[in-house]
Amino acid sequence: MVKVGIVGWRGMVGSVLMERMRSENDFQGIDPVFFTTSQAGQKGPDIGKEIPVLQDGFDVEILKGMEVIVSCQGSDYTKKVHPQLREGGWNGVWIDAASALRMSEKSIIVLDPVNREVIDKGFDAGIRDFIGGNCTVSLMLMALGGLFEAGQVEWLSTMTYQAASGAGAKNMKELVSQMGAINEAAQPILDGPVAAVDTAVAGAMRGDAFPTDNFGAPLAGSLIPWIDSPMENGQTREEWKGVSETNKILENETPIPIDGICVRIGTMRCHSQAITLKLKDDLEIAEVERLLASANDWVKVVPNTKEATLKDLTPTAVTGTLTVPVGRIRKMNLGPGVISLFTVGDQLLWGAAEPVRRMLNIAVE
Ligand code: HSE
Repeated sequence: MVKVGIVGWRGMVGSVLMERMRSENDFQGIDPVFFTTSQAGQKGPDIGKEIPVLQDGFDVEILKGMEVIVSCQGSDYTKKVHPQLREGGWNGVWIDAASALRMSEKSIIVLDPVNREVIDKGFDAGIRDFIGGNCTVSLMLMALGGLFEAGQVEWLSTMTYQAASGAGAKNMKELVSQMGAINEAAQPILDGPVAAVDTAVAGAMRGDAFPTDNFGAPLAGSLIPWIDSPMENGQTREEWKGVSETNKILENETPIPIDGICVRIGTMRCHSQAITLKLKDDLEIAEVERLLASANDWVKVVPNTKEATLKDLTPTAVTGTLTVPVGRIRKMNLGPGVISLFTVGDQLLWGAAEPVRRMLNIAVE
């Protein structure tokens, strides 16, 4: 059985990966070795079979004994350990959820329901670094894969509604604390005039006691139209990833223009995106829906009705599931071939852990 080193299995993405691997029985087909950056020698996680004690995640010699390494430990770890392994001649498969190696010429961004051919070709050509994509990009491609595959996307603009989980575990907790602080300010006067409630809520959100250490601003009851660091052209890095990662995943020789504004909103772990897309041909909506629905097993076309939208096209409906609904599909009044779409996806599943889990299965096939 293939020896697989697993690093960063206790963090947010790592825990979701572990949960998915347990429920898909993935541990039965591999010989897993769990690594730690702080608790070497302690007992490993319960995976339903005997495993060695936790190994030191910075011990390059032990890591070199692995045929595959899966890391959810983050970019700092990757930047420190990966070069030592490669420079030391290790030719195993490195699978990573972090962004550090994504745009490297020696890596492939993995999203196998969309780019399995690119992955297989890369493998045959000697590529050994397979990196999970940015969550927004992966979720957009899971939803719109059918239109890309049909060569119908001339350009697209995506306006995002990104969950707290994308910023980290502490941020998810801070969002809940913010919700609590709002409730605390308003609850005692909820039976009174709404103007007083509104004033109390705004006062609490602007007050010094409102918990904003992680987001830097109120998110509950508000939003933050900025994600990640600035680029030189006025985009944020998150917005830049949209165009660069999408075209790398699809291995497009001529890049498809993609741009938009990335916005943090107060959901826990589902990212949503409102997309304006220019089709190459002025297709009928029924044909657009057929192409979208046939792309993979997880995308689900939601009819453009209020009832279906409220039932199936919200973060609440999607959270914790692998379903990627896409709805609000209609022709826009902006010219031939311009359509709108809205999609929602779990940022920790298809946005992070699932492409990595599936790549592991491909690597040990
Ligand atoms: N960068 C994303 C976000 C999450 O901030 O929502 C990771 O892909």
